Amino acid sequence: PSISKILSLYEMEDVAKSLLSNKAWAYYSSATDEEIARVENARAFSRFFFNARVMRPVGNCDPSTRILGFKSSIPVFVSGAALAKLGHPLGEANIAQGAGMCNIIQMVSSNASLSYAQIAEARVNPSQPLFFQLYKHKDDKVAEQRVREVERLGYNAIFLTVDAIVPGNRERDVRAGWEQEEVEQVAGEGEGKSKADLPRQRDDMKELESSIDIKGTAGALIVNDDVNMTWKKTIPWLRSVTKLPICVKGVQCVEDALLAAEAGCDGILLSNHGGRQLDYSMPPLEILYKLRKHHPEVFTKTEVYLDGGVRRGTDVLKALCLGATAVGMGRPFLYAQSAYGAAGVVKAIRILEREIVMGMQLIGARSVHDLVPEMVERVDWQPV
Ligand code: FNR
Repeated sequence: PSISKILSLYEMEDVAKSLLSNKAWAYYSSATDEEIARVENARAFSRFFFNARVMRPVGNCDPSTRILGFKSSIPVFVSGAALAKLGHPLGEANIAQGAGMCNIIQMVSSNASLSYAQIAEARVNPSQPLFFQLYKHKDDKVAEQRVREVERLGYNAIFLTVDAIVPGNRERDVRAGWEQEEVEQVAGEGEGKSKADLPRQRDDMKELESSIDIKGTAGALIVNDDVNMTWKKTIPWLRSVTKLPICVKGVQCVEDALLAAEAGCDGILLSNHGGRQLDYSMPPLEILYKLRKHHPEVFTKTEVYLDGGVRRGTDVLKALCLGATAVGMGRPFLYAQSAYGAAGVVKAIRILEREIVMGMQLIGARSVHDLVPEMVERVDWQPV
């Protein structure tokens, strides 16, 4: 269908699904085990209803905000997701262009399928901010090199992913028949991969021994990560190697959000990796709700974000009412660029902007500062 016919991010997803190869669709859409976490991430939003306010002047509604001090036209950023080239030859560059044209911020994955330099070059101008998602290599020196490289390239913040020290069990992805070499090929076109360590099966016996380790794309991408990170050791280490703001991505409970704030993180991204890592990991919106209710002081110390299952403007607004500075989205941008390249990314952002502005006006909010916890209520029934 022509891009002008696309009304929602769900329709964008349908177009992407019809165009993507089976393998690419499996990689993008899959999640771990029974995929309960993926499904519930989205369903959690349906337990929160608005207490909309009327008779408030909302003529000049402004949905813009700042994320770590960087301007963003809407309170949404692109969460780092690997291998955008599986969906479109220009991959991550499409996202850089689309995000730049609409003034939102892209977080680039450690496992991007273009080099970090190529993505930086694809920006609409050199002042367009870029965030970097870091998978920390087990060797501090190697990890440090990667951080220094992106800092030199002009990236503006580090999001350290902490929920993927080992790969999740994405069975649809494994079933799609990915070969390690294929993943290596797509990923290898980006930088900083450690190809030498990718497992290979050369004969039947080896295959048998390693079959328990076959993990689709996830298994091939997450091989050298540091499984011994701690709040006390790793955050100060990161501080010692970079001046950039430091956020943690993949906080999955209130206790860890408190520890992240205590560790001095500049931002906390409540996330379960779109349900791709631990199944039955609590939906980020529920964690945000508890955090805001019991620990409102955290929001004055550090910025809090969430991702996972955000698909509509109202989803974004619910998170903002509950104290989030902004929300991230992963799959929707992969799908948008798969379907229509950079134009698809622009379209997705315009759809979101329209939905967010309409929602703010109907809720009675003229700016993001007007979105307060009293405007949402958690209900104990699940709507059909
Ligand atoms: C991801 N995600 C992810 N996260 C990360 O820290 N590093 C990565 O390389 C990737 N790669 C990746 C690939 C694909 C195909 C997906 C779908 C996701 C997780 C991502 O940043 C984000 O947390 C989720 O995508 C958010 O959920 P939604 O918006 O996809 O529902």
